[in-house]
Amino acid sequence: MLSLSNKRILLGITGGIAAYKCAELTRLFTKAGADVRVVMTKASTEFVTPLTMQALSGNRVQLDLLDAEAEAGMGHIELARWADLILVAPTTADAMARLANGHANDLLTTLVLAAPATVALAPAMNQGMWADQSTQANLATLQQRGFHIFGPAAGEQACGDIGLGRMLEPLEIAKACAALFETGKLAGKHVVITGGPTREALDPVRFLTNHSSGKMAYALAQEAYSAGAKVTLISGPVNLPKPDGVIRIDVTTASEMLAASLQAVDDADIFIGVAAVADYRPATVETTKIKKKSDQLEILLIRNPDIISEVSKLPKRPLVVGFAAETENILENGTAKLEKKNLDLLFANNAVETFNNDNITVTAISKQGSQEFPTSNKNVAARRMLSLISDRLN
Ligand code: PMT
Repeated sequence: MLSLSNKRILLGITGGIAAYKCAELTRLFTKAGADVRVVMTKASTEFVTPLTMQALSGNRVQLDLLDAEAEAGMGHIELARWADLILVAPTTADAMARLANGHANDLLTTLVLAAPATVALAPAMNQGMWADQSTQANLATLQQRGFHIFGPAAGEQACGDIGLGRMLEPLEIAKACAALFETGKLAGKHVVITGGPTREALDPVRFLTNHSSGKMAYALAQEAYSAGAKVTLISGPVNLPKPDGVIRIDVTTASEMLAASLQAVDDADIFIGVAAVADYRPATVETTKIKKKSDQLEILLIRNPDIISEVSKLPKRPLVVGFAAETENILENGTAKLEKKNLDLLFANNAVETFNNDNITVTAISKQGSQEFPTSNKNVAARRMLSLISDRLN
């Protein structure tokens, strides 16, 4: 069965007769669980209406770069970061030429240029145009830059010619898109991930916590599962649904997270500490609600166990990957944590920008050096992180 569960697909439609097939393609995507947003060039609206695409995708179709109303909603740069995959279908010869040359003279080409996402093209054009040297040179450029090219197929064309140039059928394109997400790189591996905040009680109604939403950990869990791993997600209290196929263990405090981690990590290959664990907890938890008696209230806090350090001390230790959300000196502080906690890899990020945000800018730090990833949504970032992690494991 076709699965694109939780994948964010930005479908760009350019002006060719095959544009009508995008209605069926969008239906297949949404049925497979994808969230689809559609961007259309002006020419494509002559072949299929924005209203059709809006009804099938369930989202407003975007047409113009300079659309004040659309920018007030999800702006074009935000849309570029939102996508896991940009599929341009059909891709006309003109669209291929503009993409190969880095043009940004409409919304679609601007998005492709700005997006950190994977880009796939489904070319569709007359067989003579496809065979032309210019198109073939553009194709070579795009392939060299890592664009995925689906098709074209051979057969009878709308103009009556016979040859290569027909857009692939919607089901073939949808399957090719799904295959892009199946890396299988972590097949047979057990990945344990901590995520979200912890809560440390002061009394029966109050607690100390932080702004972690769990989005980064949940994206990693989902992507690790898609890459073939068995995934155990040890989660603090968050408002997110359990990712498909993932084993989730709910915990509240740092001590509970430590106990669950030590148990889960027994047969793990990889441990990823994404959780924003409270470093301290109240020394005593009052059994009744603390009363407002004086102008000042002192609460004694004691150190919580450091979960990731405990995991990295284990004699039979998995690959240990940490995170560090910093407000200053991100690289320096991240490197210090990598060393202090004896980690194999650490993803340092800006605390102000990352907590409870859909996007993240991270710097991967290891003993070998550091590498900054461009800002992207947390799903795209999760795939990049897992690629680095699986390379280290191997
Ligand atoms: O949940 P989101 O809203 O998506 O936000 C993601 C995030 C900001 C929480 C995430 O990207 C992140 O950076 N997580 C680590 C937060 C942090 O600052 O951790 P730290 O510097 O306190 O700890 C460093 C490492 O030690 C982390 O891997 C942490 O999980 C681990 N740790 C920390 C304290 C502790 N008692 N036990 C731990 O295991």
